[in-house]
Amino acid sequence: MKVCYLIGYPVGHSVSPAMHNAAFRKLGLDYRYEAASVEPGSLAGFLNGVLRGPTARGANVTIPHKISAMMEIDAVDESAAAIGAVNTIVNDGGVLRGHNTDGTGALRALKESAVNLTGSRVLLLGAGGAARAVAHAVALEAGSLTILNRSPRRAVELAETIRGKAGRRVEVAAAPLDEAHLREELGRADILINATPVGMHPDVEETPVPKRLLHGDLLVFDLVYNPLRTRLLREAEEAGAEALSGVEMLVYQGAEAFRLWTGREAPLDLMRRVARRELGG
Ligand SMILES: NC(=O)c1ccc[n+]([C@@H]2O[C@H](COP(=O)([O-])OP(=O)(O)OC[C@H]3O[C@@H](n4cnc5c(N)ncnc54)[C@H](OP(=O)(O)O)[C@@H]3O)[C@@H](O)[C@H]2O)c1
Repeated sequence: MKVCYLIGYPVGHSVSPAMHNAAFRKLGLDYRYEAASVEPGSLAGFLNGVLRGPTARGANVTIPHKISAMMEIDAVDESAAAIGAVNTIVNDGGVLRGHNTDGTGALRALKESAVNLTGSRVLLLGAGGAARAVAHAVALEAGSLTILNRSPRRAVELAETIRGKAGRRVEVAAAPLDEAHLREELGRADILINATPVGMHPDVEETPVPKRLLHGDLLVFDLVYNPLRTRLLREAEEAGAEALSGVEMLVYQGAEAFRLWTGREAPLDLMRRVARRELGG
């Protein structure tokens, strides 16, 4: 039996154990996925005492450990190094390697949607961990990327990092997250991505964008997946826009982690069904 962990604090109720355990069962793999509540001061102890052990195959890493875990493991892949955070660790015979599947998960969710990302104008709200992963992935294909954040300095820093690392020419801009900038940027955007927690359970009546600024030429991608249909997505649909739930990214980032641990393609439909069921959808 191999064990994969979800390392976070607090881990609370997560969809990942049900999603991965269903996938392991479906493929007849002798694996188990379990949540591990690891306090910040205990991270190094858990990584070296449990995750390096012979039965552990790897982990997903979530708040607050995504950045600090990088310092404790043996290697990180290119995308995790660029993003500056890991969300997946693989134990290869006692060697811990870090990956970040959030960006590729978001990219795959976007590519499976109705929108054409190539050359598109993307407006990203937030400059935290998830926004960083999404920005690095999206910048490889978008025509322009504007980052709006509550703390403008973090938006500027993220924009500078993207400008320095994007593999092709993409226009990158940064500004404060306020109504004036939302109005200006939404007027020309093709894709709006919310990478802030605004609208997440239990604050389900909050939204990062006033409804009057939404329009029918947008694809609105909300990284928040609990609830499945956030107020932002509901109002986007009412404005005639396409709506894409964060549950798609959750499934694709999970599927990529599954492939890294097992070497097998994940049963996507099953993972999507289980994730939606766990979220009450
Ligand atoms: N679908 C998925 O698979 C997936 C994966 C990862 C994350 N997520 C979701 O993405 C969201 C962000 O996660 P994260 O890990 O990036 O969090 P994080 O690192 O804490 O970053 C949060 C970001 O949101 C901004 N923010 C927080 N509260 C805000 C508010 N009230 N108004 C405006 N901006 C606010 C922060 O701005 P400041 O810089 O000003 O603090 C920061 O830019 C969460 O809801 C998480 O569940 C989804």
